[in-house]
Amino acid sequence: MAEFEPVLLRRILKNASPSLEAYRADGGYRALDKALAMSPADVTKAVVDSKLRGRGGAGFPCGVKWTFLPKDHPGPIYLCVNADESEPCTFNNRILMHQDPHQVLEGMIIASYAIRAQVAYLYIRYEYGDATRAMQQAIDEAYAAGLLGKNILGKQGFDLDVYIHRGAGAYICGEETGLIESLEGKRAWPRIKPPFPAVEGAFRKPTIVNNIETLACVTHILDRGPEWFKSMGTPADPANPRDAGSYGPKLYCISGHVNKPCCVELPLGVTARELIDKHGGGVWKGRKAKAIVPGGISMGFLTADEIDTKLDFGSLGPFTKNGCLGLGTAAVTVIDEETSMVDVLYNICRFFEHESCGQCTPCREGTGWMLKIVDRIRKGLGRAEDLNILEEVGHQIGIMPGTTICGLADGAGWPVKQAIRKFRAEFESYIKSGKKTHTLQLVAAH
Ligand SMILES: Cc1cc2nc3c(=O)[nH]c(=O)nc-3n(C[C@H](O)[C@H](O)[C@H](O)COP(=O)(O)O)c2cc1C
Ligand code: SF4
Repeated sequence: MAEFEPVLLRRILKNASPSLEAYRADGGYRALDKALAMSPADVTKAVVDSKLRGRGGAGFPCGVKWTFLPKDHPGPIYLCVNADESEPCTFNNRILMHQDPHQVLEGMIIASYAIRAQVAYLYIRYEYGDATRAMQQAIDEAYAAGLLGKNILGKQGFDLDVYIHRGAGAYICGEETGLIESLEGKRAWPRIKPPFPAVEGAFRKPTIVNNIETLACVTHILDRGPEWFKSMGTPADPANPRDAGSYGPKLYCISGHVNKPCCVELPLGVTARELIDKHGGGVWKGRKAKAIVPGGISMGFLTADEIDTKLDFGSLGPFTKNGCLGLGTAAVTVIDEETSMVDVLYNICRFFEHESCGQCTPCREGTGWMLKIVDRIRKGLGRAEDLNILEEVGHQIGIMPGTTICGLADGAGWPVKQAIRKFRAEFESYIKSGKKTHTLQLVAAH
């Protein structure tokens, strides 16, 4: 099989300049020219046909989401670009914005044209100073070159202004309606859905929220066509109606106990083994992997026996054998055999208890209870029944049983359920031995 040629990281890997001039010399803004020669509906159709699924975590089909906008709405319609990148161990958005900002901006302009947005907000995680500066520089260059502003590239009536909004420093700011609330200057409390943002979003107007990597993919879909995009990845499984296929390239972030933490671009569907051994340089210190987080800590765990699982939308999910929540952000974190799963779970519970916004009782209280119980176990005071209680609380909180407003609660409960199910013997022997450990900080890449 021919070696995969990176698409999203192509310019970054050759250390190309992020300037507009260099980007254009590399074929940049060709996709925008092509898009502007089409109708907005045809641009949307190309994205629908590509079967691009959102890269921000939920995996919703991008073009389909755009079609949910009300037809003939008088406007304004907004594009909100989600660059909050708050899922631990996820850093691909930062790389794209910092090192190839025009690739992202081109996708934003094309998306805005397709959805008829005249204002796009770029909501960037506060800590991303370099990425913010790079994006602002690209935006300034684009205004000067007629790629933003009025009648873009001479296309009468296509106007677009882009504003950067720096994030408010909480995980929940990445949830799309929390992001919108924060953008409006309020506390990032997620909204009850429906209405979904496509109908009522920023400033109560129709709004599309898309992730940075999703929009970078849009650039290439318009440049090379939906069939090219679909030539990569894992095709839909006709025997499984839940598997709609996983197409295109994906940026996988690899971190934790590996020799070479990195961000690598591969077609969707690579196995965890290939990512860890070939791209991450193997598990550090000559050890073996005990657990693998497949896509951000809210997704649960793969065991060492599940290392040959494909990391794509169809192979990970609540209805698959591995039972993970999903592909999430495809941020792979490796936990080595010498690390205590009690410590790992304590770290995870501490994170979610801190980040729950507190609006929904099951999430606010449940994340607190889970933390208290895991902390008790960690301190050598665990009881045999604690494990069933943890599993039950992890199951009962969450949008899946329908008790909470947003997906944070599922993300908080899922790793708890999976840790107990998949590593029960370790938890049981820990409780029996009554031992205490010190918390290890998981090695995160940012
Ligand atoms: C608690 C929580 C945090 C989230 N954080 C992010 C984030 O940091 N970045 C992101 O793109 N999506 C995040 N999402 C997903 C967004 O709500 C939304 O689905 C996504 O931005 C849509 O873009 P996409 O369709 O292009 O993936 C988060 C979701 C939840 C429930
Ligand atoms: S599920 Fe949790 S984070 Fe989400 S809105 Fe409810 S309390 Fe807030």
